[in-house]
Amino acid sequence: MHVNTLILGAGAAGLMAAAQAGPDVLVIDHAKAPGEKIRISGGGRCNFTNMYCDPDSFLSENPHFAKSALARFTQWEFIEMIDRHGIAWHEKTLGQLFCDGKSTQIVDMLLKEMEKAGACLWLRTAIKDTRHTDGRFVTLLEKDGREIEVTSQNLILATGGKSIPKMGATGIAYDIAQQFGHDLTDIRPALVPLTFGDRFAPLAGVATNTRVSTEATSFSEAMLFTHRGLSGPAILQISSYWSEGQEIVVDLLPDLDLSNLLRDKRQTDGKRALSAELATQLPARLVSFLGQEIDLKGNIADLSDIRMDQLTEALTEWRLKPTGSEGYRTAEVTLGGVSTTGLDSKSLMSKHLPGLYVIGEAVDVTGWLGGYNFQWAWASGMAAARDI
Ligand code: FDA
Repeated sequence: MHVNTLILGAGAAGLMAAAQAGPDVLVIDHAKAPGEKIRISGGGRCNFTNMYCDPDSFLSENPHFAKSALARFTQWEFIEMIDRHGIAWHEKTLGQLFCDGKSTQIVDMLLKEMEKAGACLWLRTAIKDTRHTDGRFVTLLEKDGREIEVTSQNLILATGGKSIPKMGATGIAYDIAQQFGHDLTDIRPALVPLTFGDRFAPLAGVATNTRVSTEATSFSEAMLFTHRGLSGPAILQISSYWSEGQEIVVDLLPDLDLSNLLRDKRQTDGKRALSAELATQLPARLVSFLGQEIDLKGNIADLSDIRMDQLTEALTEWRLKPTGSEGYRTAEVTLGGVSTTGLDSKSLMSKHLPGLYVIGEAVDVTGWLGGYNFQWAWASGMAAARDI
């Protein structure tokens, strides 16, 4: 069979592209349902975009690459689309927008838009082979035990990254892009918990506000101790800037001048136990855990200026070396991907093979936590579809 456009992958980017690319479009996926990551995202309520979305919130070897697509389909345009479909939403924090109801509303919206556009969706369909001959793409698919050859003018790679293989992530977009002469950047799991053996197991479940930094940047958000190490938004964010062997620096009291507080308390409430005072600022379990690593014994009055400064440094510049990350098993995204050097930033089309497009997470554009990755999926899907 022949279609104008074949889209590989019915995730966020592929569905958006299919909804916009016109009638002669086939989108295929090996999963039994479309948009599975949309469904499970945001605890089932999908953090579908971010009000403060701008190119500075994305990582890429070319930090300018995402600008064009993001500017041509903004968070406001996506909000307009969901408003048109009567999907209620709210801001949770830091501009992160979530559905009031279930995230499947977003999948249903995209499927309705696709149907309206006349695009066709095949699920449980495997990709056996694809090549480019005589000016068109020839892709061999397997559906219901039958092999079907589909020829197309355009081929859109929208199969995402490698994160969460259990949900069907395969990295096939990288293989196909490479086969067609595209370079890949280094890839690794991102927005992922960091592991520390069982060091923090006694604190599993404790959460606290922090500022977590690497040399490159820092994030002020909550951090969560787990049986395997550290998680929570601050850690997921910093994981995208962390690489194996590096330290992270945790400020456990980002909103407090501890040194000043202790000096004041030494005058006014010197008999108070240091650990009791710290437990008013930090979770008590964390204070008793820290007491095994740092000397927290005695009253505030017993603290010399030097010890106060040492204590402040220990709590605001806690240097930690992760043993690794939880990997693709739990990573929300893959950092890196198909190099932007071979793609046109306006259309996401291959610079050397007209008709080939790469969109969504498969591209070397990775957003922060908080709705940025979906906004990139919508914007890049739209950019390709508008070009077709
Ligand atoms: P996506 O992964 O959505 O789609 C790829 C599709 O290709 C899938 O349907 C897959 O089945 C299919 N596929 C893969 N290999 C194939 C093969 N070999 N053959 C056929 N089909 C194949 N982002 C955000 O902005 N807000 C959020 O709240 C969240 N939350 C979140 C939670 C969790 C648990 C995860 C894992 C991820 C998030 N994300 C997120 C990230 C977000 O889900 C992700 O960035 C987008 O889904 C990427 O969209 P794509 O369409 O590029 O890939």
